[in-house]
Amino acid sequence: ALERTLSIIKPDAVAKNVIGEIESRFEKAGLRIVAMKMLQLSREKAEGFYAEHKERPFFKDLVDFMTSGPVVVQVLEGENAVIANRDLMGATNPKEAAPGTIRADFAQSIDANAVHGSDSAESAAREVSYFFADDEICPRS
Ligand code: CMP
Repeated sequence: ALERTLSIIKPDAVAKNVIGEIESRFEKAGLRIVAMKMLQLSREKAEGFYAEHKERPFFKDLVDFMTSGPVVVQVLEGENAVIANRDLMGATNPKEAAPGTIRADFAQSIDANAVHGSDSAESAAREVSYFFADDEICPRS
């Protein structure tokens, strides 16, 4: 099915100057960028985004990291976009990520893991609307 998913290029990948290389992987896989913005997350915005992890031991480190520098947030659209993006990213822990995936190639650690992608269509709907108003999304299909 035609889907949308939310993708974040995290502060480590922005600092490594590989925004374009990562966007290029989305495009080469047939995903279309239908919205994008670069921004510095506030603590409040990062905490709200990751609210489901609030009780996890890594929550504070995650928020510290995600607010440590600018991020690039985009909406990707395409056939089975949620899974397609997760396949491109590889496992959350870069040590377990398959060769050729974004995390295997660009990530350092489970915290500094280069990218975030929605884990389901339901999360994608919530996450897309957390960052983008309807009129900031430009359907291209
Ligand atoms: P992300 O897909 O952005 O969603 C939550 C993030 O928490 C995850 O990527 C990791 O960067 C980070 N994280 C840190 N420790 C863990 C852990 N033990 N399990 C899952 N995610 C973790």
